Amino acid sequence: MRVLIPDAQFPSGPDIELAALPEAEFMIHRAKDPLQIPDGVWAKADAVLVNHEMTIDRAVAAKLVRARMVVRFGAGFDNIDLAACAERGIAVSNVPDYGTEEVANHAIACTLALRRGLPTYTEMLALDPVGGWRWEVAPLVKRLTGQTFAIVGLGRIGRAAAARARAFGFNVAYYDPYLRADDPRAVAYLRFEDLYAMLGEADIVSLHCPLTRETHGLMGEGALARMKKGAILVNTARGPIVDTGALLKSIEQGHVGGAALDVLPKEPPDPDDPLVAAYRVPPSWLAGRLILSPHAAFYSPESWYDLRFKAAETAGLFLKENRLRNCVNYHLFQAGALPDNEIT
Ligand code: NAI
Repeated sequence: MRVLIPDAQFPSGPDIELAALPEAEFMIHRAKDPLQIPDGVWAKADAVLVNHEMTIDRAVAAKLVRARMVVRFGAGFDNIDLAACAERGIAVSNVPDYGTEEVANHAIACTLALRRGLPTYTEMLALDPVGGWRWEVAPLVKRLTGQTFAIVGLGRIGRAAAARARAFGFNVAYYDPYLRADDPRAVAYLRFEDLYAMLGEADIVSLHCPLTRETHGLMGEGALARMKKGAILVNTARGPIVDTGALLKSIEQGHVGGAALDVLPKEPPDPDDPLVAAYRVPPSWLAGRLILSPHAAFYSPESWYDLRFKAAETAGLFLKENRLRNCVNYHLFQAGALPDNEIT
């Protein structure tokens, strides 16, 4: 059984993957572009475990002549052409349950950092410990109780963020057109059927939806203009959901108060990208209003272990026992083409 990891993001060998699937031969590559891997290697794989930076598009799927499964090392699977895989009989699974807590904590940490002024205080005291000993200069500090924490996408991470936000005294609202209003996991929060209506009420907007055709550019100029003046945007979902140029302009114009972005449209970003350039040498209107992190919301040593173990385990369950776990393109197969013994 050969398992290809085309874009391994661990420096050593596949020790964790082998702990989950000792029978497998792991073919480890550290490519960014599928073309850097010979066609013969793709063709040999019985399964592929892939990170988010490599795209499994129709052309790559066509190279997978033996593979029965692609597993996303992660929760979001926007880099995989689900239909192209299904057409070739390849099941695609994700690992949805390795870092929910980490991402929710990251969204809350960003919110608290901005609302408690930490970027401002850190920078000022590093520059001048005496002259910078001032508490009144952080621009976004505000009491949390009674503010509205608004979630776009009340799935696993959205709900984990909701529970945390409530514990800090926020009123929690959500917009998720794919969640039934009577879903027991959602009834405790204020539901909005209209995104723009929610944006007008929110003090914090936290994005937890997947990147889809519908959410690409969702937070563009129009949506940002509907946010309340001074509100904060937190994006731990996917970069292309936010138009970062429009966001920067809105902060400069004094409308959106600030933002925390764990994900960017291009990762790593182009240093000359206007938002990134402004972040590196902040003009006075941006000081204390922007936090960036390197698509790290998922990360802790514990979540990283769980992710790698579960990804290999998911491939092993299918290859060895024909048991499907977390299949995200099941609906694209003909009835009966995949086992109906989905386990979680
Ligand atoms: P999930 O599938 O449990 O939840 C997503 C929710 O978004 C669902 O309830 C769905 O109905 C909703 N949704 C779909 N389209 C929507 C739309 N147009 N508007 C509003 N809501 C919509 O997924 P989970 O595990 O909560 O993850 C959410 C996203 O977080 C992932 O798709 C991934 O892109 C991102 N993520 C980011 C990480 C990071 O390190 N920054 C790590 C893990 C996930």
